[in-house]
Amino acid sequence: MNSNQIVVENDQEREVSEFLNYLIEKGGPEFQDYEKFTSIVNNLEPADVDNFRQKIKTILNENTLIGHGFVKPFGYPGDFTLIDKIYRFDINQDSIYKNWDLFFQNQPGAYAVRNRKDFFIEYCSKLISKKENAKVLILGSGPASDVYEFLSDFSGGNNINIDLIDFDQSAIEFSMRKNEKFNGQISYNKINALRFNSYKLYDLIWSAGLFDYFKDKHFTFLIRKYINCLEEDGEMVISNFSTKNPTKRLMEVLSDWYLNLRTESDLYRIASDANINKELVSVDKEPLGINLFLKIRKKQQNYDK
Ligand SMILES: C[S@@+](CC[C@H](N)C(=O)[O-])C[C@H]1O[C@@H](n2cnc3c(N)ncnc32)[C@H](O)[C@@H]1O
Repeated sequence: MNSNQIVVENDQEREVSEFLNYLIEKGGPEFQDYEKFTSIVNNLEPADVDNFRQKIKTILNENTLIGHGFVKPFGYPGDFTLIDKIYRFDINQDSIYKNWDLFFQNQPGAYAVRNRKDFFIEYCSKLISKKENAKVLILGSGPASDVYEFLSDFSGGNNINIDLIDFDQSAIEFSMRKNEKFNGQISYNKINALRFNSYKLYDLIWSAGLFDYFKDKHFTFLIRKYINCLEEDGEMVISNFSTKNPTKRLMEVLSDWYLNLRTESDLYRIASDANINKELVSVDKEPLGINLFLKIRKKQQNYDK
């Protein structure tokens, strides 16, 4: 490297620092800044991540959604409070933080989370239209905002029983408070999904935002385990963020939030590793194609979703 190159790099670094200071001063990026800010993050070398975080440290705290992810007040990324805020498009109205939250909520990854809630609601509404007293099991239920919305919006929602599994007591308590008015229809179970043993059979076993944290061997283990908990005409639906997630690097750099992203063929391979007949397996996605859904039926049937 010659001395001219060093000058060029220092100029670039200075320009980035000035841009970041400008963003911090005005409470975060506005729409016209999104492309430049995202490009800086996407092109960051791994060795420069700590230094970058240092430059934006005034927003890496629980006052912003980005910072909430980074600080991890419950010990893991994507906790129930953050996920619930994504669903509600919650924004800190304090002008120091507001644009950072708007930036976060406008990322494709956040839209994909909201889309998976809509996917769940559509799924359950179809289920109750064809099944009396439908039984649903949710693995990694978090805030259960999806359940709340479904039960609030669908008059036939009282024709369903939902069992929630989450290993975080705080998530269970939050979901209980949120769904208080549906007491009797929901059971809350604080337990690790890897250890839960069911004495019931379910029409739908749903899991969103959980398997992205598991290695393939745990993913396979859970399919094998829970396929035995399905009714004969039941179905298991498991979401996983795609390798095409455009928000990947923003999540990793800004919020220290890492997922095991997977392709459609990864999901088919995992189902095959779990000894599921390929005719019973399909992969669906929400409109952005970021959240994939591995769908496994217990038995061959005429099922349109
Ligand atoms: C990202 S949140 C997703 C919440 C919800 N399913 C949704 O999509 O809105 C993941 C949840 O899974 C829970 N979780 C993580 N690992 C778990 C495990 N091994 N067993 C049970 N719950 C788990 C976490 O506590 C958290 O509440």
